[in-house]
Amino acid sequence: MIYLSPSMLSIDFTKIGEQLATIEEAGTPYIHLDVMDGLFVPNISFGIPVIKGIRKASNMVFDAHLMIVEPEKYVEEFRKAGADIINFHLEATKDPKKVIDLIRGTGAKVGITIKPKTPVEALKPYLADVDMFLVMTVEPGFGGQKFMEDQVPKIRQLADWKKEMNLNYDIQVDGGITQDNVKIVLDAGANVIVAGSAVFGKEDIAKAAQDFMEIFKEYE
Ligand code: DX5
Ligand code: ZN
Repeated sequence: MIYLSPSMLSIDFTKIGEQLATIEEAGTPYIHLDVMDGLFVPNISFGIPVIKGIRKASNMVFDAHLMIVEPEKYVEEFRKAGADIINFHLEATKDPKKVIDLIRGTGAKVGITIKPKTPVEALKPYLADVDMFLVMTVEPGFGGQKFMEDQVPKIRQLADWKKEMNLNYDIQVDGGITQDNVKIVLDAGANVIVAGSAVFGKEDIAKAAQDFMEIFKEYE
């Protein structure tokens, strides 16, 4: 299955409940929640109280992308707030195994994310331990940046390992994805597609989400 995960970073925050309902009604399965602490990335977004608040208003899968240092300190809180998937950055912790176990212990799905400068080989020790890998195709911190096509071989490598080792993790891609370039990452083997500005930046957000999902049908 291929899943769309629109990034809430680009939502109209004066219409947050309304816009979440619009994409959910349009059939969007996931919502991507970019949490930034101003330390791991040079930006600050939203955190636990916001996630807790919107949990009451949505049944979509809450896909949290933690761009924070020492994620181990907050895993429990994000789970309690309503995160279904918790993605942490490999670069943000000294002990990835510990973070994996902590997330697993909460009952959430576990994801590991890498920044563009981190080689995909760094994920190899964890292939059998997590539910999702997230390949960043922009430097994390901001929505609306240009897609870095030079990151695509990482997606292909993760897809190859998955096949060779008969594993079934998801491969998520995040950053600069549009309806025009999404096939590049789908062809490489990605199956969870994040899109911020290409959904919430559009006039008709339901149509923008559906346009992505129409393209996904060609791959199923
Ligand atoms: C960037 C975030 C992304 C971002 C994507 O640090 O992780 O999820 O919101 O936005 P677009 O799709 O506009 O690049
Ligand atoms: Zn993200």
